[in-house]
Amino acid sequence: MTSYDQIMKLALERGFYFPSCEIYPDAPAGFWEYGPVGVNMKNKFIALWRRELIRRDGMIEIDGSQIMSRSVFEASGHLRNFSDPLAECKKCGSIFRADRYLSEKLGKLIPEGTSETVLNLMISENHLQCQNCKGEFKPVTRFNMMFKVGIGSSNDVAYLRPETCQTIFVDFARVFKTMRGRLPLGIAQIGKSFRNEIAPRQSLLRLREFYQAEIEVFCNPDRLDEMPKFDEVRDITLNLVDDKFHRDLTAVDCLKQGLLPNKLIAYYLALLADFYGKTGIDMKRTRFRRLADDEKAFYSHLAFDFEVETSIGWLELVACNYRADYDLKGHSSTSNHNFEVVEPTDQTKVLPHIFELSMGIDRSLYSILEHSYREDFRHDDRVVLRLNPYLAPILFGVLPLMSKPNMVEKSRTIHSVLRKDFDSVYDESGSIGRRYRRLEEIGVPFALTIDQQTLVDDTVTVRYRDSMEQERIGIGDLKKFLDAKSAVD
Ligand code: GLY
Repeated sequence: MTSYDQIMKLALERGFYFPSCEIYPDAPAGFWEYGPVGVNMKNKFIALWRRELIRRDGMIEIDGSQIMSRSVFEASGHLRNFSDPLAECKKCGSIFRADRYLSEKLGKLIPEGTSETVLNLMISENHLQCQNCKGEFKPVTRFNMMFKVGIGSSNDVAYLRPETCQTIFVDFARVFKTMRGRLPLGIAQIGKSFRNEIAPRQSLLRLREFYQAEIEVFCNPDRLDEMPKFDEVRDITLNLVDDKFHRDLTAVDCLKQGLLPNKLIAYYLALLADFYGKTGIDMKRTRFRRLADDEKAFYSHLAFDFEVETSIGWLELVACNYRADYDLKGHSSTSNHNFEVVEPTDQTKVLPHIFELSMGIDRSLYSILEHSYREDFRHDDRVVLRLNPYLAPILFGVLPLMSKPNMVEKSRTIHSVLRKDFDSVYDESGSIGRRYRRLEEIGVPFALTIDQQTLVDDTVTVRYRDSMEQERIGIGDLKKFLDAKSAVD
């Protein structure tokens, strides 16, 4: 199985991602940059998300501020509740996230919602000490994970948003009105969120600044089974886990067996599964896990995590939370703004409930890389990223077979025409075999080789990354070929 270290090495050496401010010793942990190859892949992932979720479902998208006022987080409950348990060593001052430290040391899952009293008891009953100096721990305290910022010369308190969806909630009334919305309506947003994690780790997997793609579906709680579009996705397979693993059930069977409470939730989970199926993630290694009460976020009434199996265990990629009226009620009472909407069919007023699909983009990209990575020892120890062409950071490379001036000139001309429409590279340095290897390693699906015959008949050799097969294509047909090959099925 591909390991985390193999992906890390590839990411660093080939420009997918690397630590932020790495030239300085005081660079804080938990901040990472996307390099050129990583940015291309991220942009393509986002394009797929827009295509397969936002446009497919008729959602709308906004782009809100990252810094939000104190009142927002009073209303949202983040000032009171958005904290992690912190264990500090009395002797050396080392700091740990208490629930994770206990999970690691005791080899069992300690739910996120475990109280400080219980955590303290577990530390003392198990005689746990600081792993760095064997010192004793101070009593566990709570640490609020929001980043506070000072606005203007008066340094007014505001916060970097810890989840992008808060902008969607506070903007809901205006957006619903201006777009003449009707329930159910998905409002989506891509952007950065910020969490002052006690122990950021594993590069893209636990960051302090990270990308979310969030969808908040505003719905009428009395009409959660009125979803004609459910029929489009009823046969999509979901692996559902509650107290047991219900493998390979269709969405409609999950409903029939009472594993999902209504069609709205079943529809959006199936839509999400359909989307991830197109990312190249092995769907047999995914599951929707229903969270126990002590694992759910404070705003969630019912929660399913979409998880994927990786070399370091099951990773949560999407939190699917039925938030009910928690958010609009909170913002309504703090701001005195009325968030009710009128149902056009019977003129009833309703305060919408919310079901969200809160996706971590960085973790999704990591998982796609890990599930796409192959080592092929039969052919020159090649490393191949088998990315779907529409997610590949670079679609093709243009390679002159030899460095003869007329071949190089022809190659450059072909590349300069095609590069306007596609992400591509031109490479003339090293043997052709080495150049293929460089492309395969970053997932480039096609290599276009310009050889002697090109100069005679205006055809190029197209080499396929996965099969290594080759075919000849006329230069005039390349754009059509590449468009077809990079389309989403
Ligand atoms: N909006 C849910 C989350 O950030 O996890």
